[in-house]
Amino acid sequence: MATVLIVDQDPSVRGVLTKALARFGHDALTASNAPEALQALSSSHVDLVICDWNTSGQIDGLELLRLLREEDRDVPVIILTEFGTIEHAVSAMRAFHPEAEVAVARAAKSRTTQFMLSTGADTAVEAARDARGAPVWQQLYATDDWNVTTALVRRAERAGCTAIFLTVDSPGARNNETLRRAVRVDNRDCNACHVNGNHSMWTGAKRPAFADIDTARVTGLSPPALTTEYLDRLRGIVKGKLVIKGVVTGEDATLAVEHGADGVVVSNHGGRNEETLRASIDCLPEVVAAARRRVPVFLDGGVRRGTDIFKALAMGAAGVGIGRPQAWGLAAFGQSGVEAVLDILNGELTNIMRQAGTASVAHITPRSIVESKR
Ligand SMILES: Cc1cc2nc3c(=O)[nH]c(=O)nc-3n(C[C@H](O)[C@H](O)[C@H](O)COP(=O)(O)O)c2cc1C
Repeated sequence: MATVLIVDQDPSVRGVLTKALARFGHDALTASNAPEALQALSSSHVDLVICDWNTSGQIDGLELLRLLREEDRDVPVIILTEFGTIEHAVSAMRAFHPEAEVAVARAAKSRTTQFMLSTGADTAVEAARDARGAPVWQQLYATDDWNVTTALVRRAERAGCTAIFLTVDSPGARNNETLRRAVRVDNRDCNACHVNGNHSMWTGAKRPAFADIDTARVTGLSPPALTTEYLDRLRGIVKGKLVIKGVVTGEDATLAVEHGADGVVVSNHGGRNEETLRASIDCLPEVVAAARRRVPVFLDGGVRRGTDIFKALAMGAAGVGIGRPQAWGLAAFGQSGVEAVLDILNGELTNIMRQAGTASVAHITPRSIVESKR
């Protein structure tokens, strides 16, 4: 019988792992943050540590491992990154259902899934955290005013967010042809949400993330130049994880890691900013190669089936995000619709894992798939 220390901020993850270990006759100690983890390690005998990559309190799995090595303590550490499905930032979810992001966060809680809140969300980060019952990840549209950037980061961190995901693939305007065409035949009162037809997140009826922030000088959602100097500056103020969302090349992944990113998301914004890019799954191999296991690589875009998750994991992704599928579930049935989407994806993932003879996520490797001839 072994004693396992589980370090994770999410009480539901601690509960699930504790129960699973008990079934095999192992004892579990739990800690929700770094001080608690270090306290448990100094006061009890521990055979194995399972630590979340995402744990806050100035420590994570990698740092814990380093500290133990420095102390010459020979305790193995398993570092968890998200695997399976993560609900990725989708703005303005009240467009899909009156309960908006609260319903999505509740679904994330009931299915132990991570939730990334958009800067353009219709729900405040504190309310999303309460609905999730654990810290959420904050997607960041940094804007072109550094004071606003700082205020957004500080507020997210005060709300307990353990990771800030800087979106780098929305540099400017896009050609919303389909939207413009749809608007012509939509007879709903758009002014109910967009006062005077204003779609901006930071003026007029501001989105909750911008409430109480002086946005008078903001003219765009992204800084005009998303350079490595900008990354360094942002790294200087983000206390928790900083992850770059919207990376599609190995070169950019290398730069992100060299400038302090704790992870990257291979994403092209679901093809919404530019529809002619490579599919994100085609970009994954070079980004995984460039990351060289130094940081986790996540992927989103076109994940529609459990088999898509399986392929991404096999190709080296630490986890995948879904954008539209959660919005479809939300629009159809609210929280239970999002839960149904997650259940379908997880059920399909389990099925393909059985088919492929992969007993756990750790068994899904590049050998689990072959590339079909085009
Ligand atoms: C309606 C909608 C709104 C989105 N809003 C944001 C956003 O505010 N910030 C962001 O980084 N990505 C945003 N995204 C992109 C998603 O986070 C994600 O990258 C993308 O949807 C994944 O592709 P998928 O929809 O094929 O799953 C949005 C996507 C959709 C469909």
